Amino acid sequence: MKIFLDTANIDEIKKAYELGVIAGVTTNPSLVAKEGIDFKERLQEICAIVSGSVSAEVISEHAEGMVEEGEDLAKIAPQITVKIPMTLEGLKAVNILSSKQIKTNVTLIFSANQALLAARAGASYVSPFLGRLDDIGHNGMQLIEDIEQIFSIHNIATEIIAASIRHPLHVTEAALRGAHIGTMPYSVIEQISKHPLTDAGIEKFLADWEKAQKSN
Ligand code: E4P
Repeated sequence: MKIFLDTANIDEIKKAYELGVIAGVTTNPSLVAKEGIDFKERLQEICAIVSGSVSAEVISEHAEGMVEEGEDLAKIAPQITVKIPMTLEGLKAVNILSSKQIKTNVTLIFSANQALLAARAGASYVSPFLGRLDDIGHNGMQLIEDIEQIFSIHNIATEIIAASIRHPLHVTEAALRGAHIGTMPYSVIEQISKHPLTDAGIEKFLADWEKAQKSN
C-alpha cells in the first residue's frame, strides 16, 4: 500500500516528503479552508514538492461546472488529480474528464456500489471514507475489503484510496485488505513510526554505551 498525505499544510508536506515515504497528497475543501490560503497558489507549492498524484477537489455541484473547474485545476501541474464528489452529476463529470485524459478521484464513497459506478465512469481512484463509517457504527474496513474483491474479480484498474484514516490500526488493516493507497494526516504518520520498545531499545543501547565509555 502506498502512502498519501491528507493535508493542505505545506510544512507537513515538506516534513513528510523528506522522510521519503509519501507517494502523493490529497486535499479537500475543509483542509484548504483551515489553511486560509489561495487554493491554486497552494496547489502550485504542493506540486513543486510532490511528484506523485495531488488531489484537488471541485466545489461545483453540476457536471458542467465540475468539468470546467477540473480542466482549470489540471492546468496547474501534470500530477493534479481532480477530486469529484460521488453524485450522478459527479459521475457525468468523471466520464467527461477521463475522456480528456484528466485523472479523477471520486470522493465520499460509502458503499461498494458507489465505488463500482465511479470505476465504470472512468475514475482513476475511488476514496472510501472508512473513519466516517466507523464514526456512525458501520464497518469501514469491510467496505475496503468488498471494493477490493469486486475490483479484483472484474479486473478493474481503478485504485482504492483508503481515506478518512484516523489511527494506526486503520493503516495496517487497510493495507492487509488490499487498499492500493492509504491517505492519512501527518499525525498518523508520526504515530505509525513509533513503538515503545524502539524507544526503550535506543535508551538501553545508549546507556550501555555510556557505561562502557566510563569503565574504559
Ligand atoms: C480524503 O481524501 C479526505 O480528504 C479525508 O481522508 C477525509 O478524512 P476525515 O473524515 O478525517 O475528514
